[in-house]
Amino acid sequence: MVIVSAIADVRDAVATARAAGARIGFVPTMGALHKGHMSLVTRAQREADVTVMSIFVNPLQFAPHEDLSRYPRPYEEDEGLAREGGVDILFRPETEEMYPGDRVITVSAGELGAEWEGRSRPGHFDGVLTVVAKLFNIVQADFAVFGRKDLQQAALVRALVRDLDIPTKIVLSPIVREEDGLALSSRNRFLVPDDRARATLLNRSLIAVRESFAQGVRDTDALEAAGLDVLRSDPGVAPDYLAVIDPGTFTRAAEATEGFSVIVAARIGSTRLIDNMPLAGDDQD
Ligand code: PAJ
Repeated sequence: MVIVSAIADVRDAVATARAAGARIGFVPTMGALHKGHMSLVTRAQREADVTVMSIFVNPLQFAPHEDLSRYPRPYEEDEGLAREGGVDILFRPETEEMYPGDRVITVSAGELGAEWEGRSRPGHFDGVLTVVAKLFNIVQADFAVFGRKDLQQAALVRALVRDLDIPTKIVLSPIVREEDGLALSSRNRFLVPDDRARATLLNRSLIAVRESFAQGVRDTDALEAAGLDVLRSDPGVAPDYLAVIDPGTFTRAAEATEGFSVIVAARIGSTRLIDNMPLAGDDQD
């Protein structure tokens, strides 16, 4: 595995691979790697000759009150996992390399970026799309793999490459969960044992909505009520939103159909968690 921190060096490494005819797959991350991230690497390797991973904790996507400073940065552990996982090129830039201080342009995530996660985290998706656009231009991969864990982010990244004609194909990969259903997240490590137990309610609320749908309920309000009942069964869980939406547009409709998903965000202690699930079928692309 080659480790680079300069933009010019990752460009060189990718250009050399491409000149040799390699198909380049890209997995952007903020590090604190877990099995969810590594599943994206495995997915990339199915189609790529060379897999590039970036680890960059992007300050632009954190609001001032958010957890930028406490975001975990286990450098050596990450390096080991990336190596074991078969990453070929690890791009780990410093903040000054990505943002030297003379930036004028920010990508706007528009209306879709202001809903749901965007409502709780103003500016978050502008920050995500700005860094993703930069990373796509730096790496120039044939395709990039994103997790369905961050479903709204995935929809926005798809819109980014479509609207800005970026020639990187977007591949989505299923959510990796703990045995009790909790979706893997770098933030799970902040949960104290009682809260860790409570955190399974997110997944259980989604399953309740899915079961309602399977029983024939189509009314969106009724489906959402089934999920919210589960979340509200524990006063230690503060729901932010639970909604049944079209995963392409993130809009609600009075009646849900097969292709819709249920999305949830809740705060448990000081940790905010998100999850989602399709109403029917599996979450394969
Ligand atoms: P990060 O939170 O590190 O996530 C990197 C990628 O891993 C994302 O595509 C995310 O959806 C995926 N992922 C996280 N947990 C997962 C799980 N349990 N199962 C499957 N995939 C999972 O998302 C970001 O970083 C940043 O916003 C980034 C896109 C890198 C831009 O800064």
